[in-house]
Parts: sequence; C-alpha cells; structure tokens
Amino acid sequence: MTDDPAADLKRQVGLAAAALVEDGMVVGLGTGSTAAFVIAALGERVRQGLQFVGIPTSERSAEQARGVGIALSDFAHHPEIDLTIDGADEIERGSLNLIKGLGGALLREKIVAAASRRLVIIADDRKLVDHLGEHTAVPVEVSPFGWESAALQLGRLGAAVTPRRNRGGILFVTDGGNMILDCRFGVIEQPAALERQIGEIVGVIESGLFIGRATLAIVAGEGGIVEYRPQ
Ligand code: A5P
Repeated sequence: MTDDPAADLKRQVGLAAAALVEDGMVVGLGTGSTAAFVIAALGERVRQGLQFVGIPTSERSAEQARGVGIALSDFAHHPEIDLTIDGADEIERGSLNLIKGLGGALLREKIVAAASRRLVIIADDRKLVDHLGEHTAVPVEVSPFGWESAALQLGRLGAAVTPRRNRGGILFVTDGGNMILDCRFGVIEQPAALERQIGEIVGVIESGLFIGRATLAIVAGEGGIVEYRPQ
C-alpha cells in the first residue's frame, strides 16, 4: 500500500516505458518514485527473459535494480547508453525542458542523460507546466567547500537560495559527496541562458535544469497516457 495519490499513474507510465527496452540494450535507470516503477517493471521483464544492462543514476536505484535481478554495468564498459528512462519534477509543455533533482540525484542523472541516445521522461500530469520554475526550485549541486560563495552568486542571478537539509536538519549530502542548494527563481523565461549562467559559477557542479535533452515524455493523467515529443 502507498499513500501517494499519483502512484497508479506513475505505475502506468512505468509500465509503458519499460516496454521500450529491448534485448541487448544499455539502459539508464532513473531515480525517484516514478522511476522506481520502471525498475520494478523491468525486473519483471528480466524474469520473463529480457536481457539488458542498466546504468543506475543513484545508489538507491542501483540497490533496487540489483534486488529485482537487473544486471548493472558502468561507464567503463558502456560509455554510451541506448535509452534512459527517468522522472522529472517539472516538464515544460512544448520544449520538454525539465527541472530535475528533487530526489538529489541530478548530477548522475545529467551525466547519464548526456550519454544517452534517447531520454524518456515519465511523469503524472501534475508535472506539466507552461514555464519551468512555476512550482519548483531549481536544485543546484555545489562543492561543500565555499558553498556560501556559490549561494551568494546564485542569489545575484535572482534566486532565493536554501541549502537542502535532511529531516534532522543536517545538510543533505549527494551520492557524489556534494551539497544541494535549492534555488527558487519563480517563472524562468529563458531556461537555456539560466542553465549557462548557473554553470559559470565556480563551485557549481551541475544544475537540475535539463535543456533540450528529453526525446519523449510519457505522461499519465485521469484521461489516460499521452506521449509528447519536443517541439
Ligand atoms: C531525482 O533526483 C529526481 O530528478 C527525480 O527524477 C525527480 O525528482 C522525480 O521524482 P519523482 O518521480 O519521485 O517525483
């Protein structure tokens, strides 16, 4: 049982995306509650005989994938990925530009996305927005050394900056040993320019703006599943 009201929609898109995986593929495995449904569905397909290798975007997803019998690989063996399936926090209608990283895995997610021929994003329709930043802060992964300076400069770009903390109030640490600054910009009119400006700040490792990377979004709502391609 889950208390997530969107769990059924997430399961539907998870199943739809898992059906895209074919024998012999190298598959990027996303992170988050939606991506978890893909990993579960792929485990089921492995039990039915599907053969592929997965490159996980987080320790969490690696653990789940191992648990359901998915063979894992790495960039040393597979520097190119056929297909990555991942969730998102906001999906901009039309462009399919994204905000990702509320789950804290944005750096590995972006490395895996950049190495992928196809990036399929799965979500329930609450994630669709007209403009990025409408509801969600942009997570920015930064070096723990000197993060206060990066935070100051992100503020000068117009963000209200909050260092991410765990429930206990301890600073959140990513799989890569870094920090996350959640940067609330409000509506982002020019996401590609903002991604570049954030990337120019020394100490910033990556931002959760994914511009021009998604090749398909599979989105579920009460009316069923809709597939979007970038326009
Ligand atoms: C993880 O860092 C994120 O990018 C997730 O892909 C994103 O937060 C979506 O997560 P949910 O599927 O749990 O909403």
